[in-house]
Amino acid sequence: MKIVKSLLPLAVFLTVLCMGGMLACQNLNKEDLFGIQCDTTSVSYSADIEPILQSNCLHCHYDGTPVAPFSLQGFKNVLIRVNTGELEGAVNHLPGSPQMPRDGPKLPECELSLINKWIREGAPNN
Ligand code: HEC
Repeated sequence: MKIVKSLLPLAVFLTVLCMGGMLACQNLNKEDLFGIQCDTTSVSYSADIEPILQSNCLHCHYDGTPVAPFSLQGFKNVLIRVNTGELEGAVNHLPGSPQMPRDGPKLPECELSLINKWIREGAPNN
C-alpha cells in the first residue's frame, strides 16, 4: 500500500506531462518539427499540390460517387475548380466559400502558400 501511495504523485506528474506534450504538439507541422523552411521558390503540381490534395481532400473528392459533389482527382478536375475560383476560396476560407477541408482545420500556412502561389502562376500542369 505504501509503495502505491508513493507512486501516485509520480503517476499524476507523468499524466500531466503527457497531456501537456500532446497539447503542445497539436499545432506543430512539418516545419516546426523538423525545422524545415517553407520553400515556395518553385511550385509543382505533381510534387507539391497533388500530394496536399491527396492527403487532405481526396477522401471526399474522389472519382465515382464522391462524398463531395465533385472529384478533385487528376489535374483536369482540379483545374476546373481553380478556374471558377472555388478552390482558392475554399482553402483560404474566404467569405462566401464553404471552408475546406470540411472535416478538419485550415491547411497549414506552408501548404496554403504553395497552393496560392501555384494558382497565381496560372495553375500549370508541371
Ligand atoms: C469531409 C469531406 C470533405 C473534405 C475532406 C474536403 N471537402 Fe471539399 N467539399 C465537401 C462537400 C460536401 C462540399 C460541398 C459544399 C458543402 O457542402 O460544404 C465541398 C465543396 C468544395 C468546393 C466547392 C466550393 C464552392 O465554392 O462551392 C471546393 C473547391 C472544395 N470542396 C475543395 C476542397 C479541397 C481543396 C479540399 C482539401 C483541402 C477539400 N475540399 C476537402 C467535402 C469535403
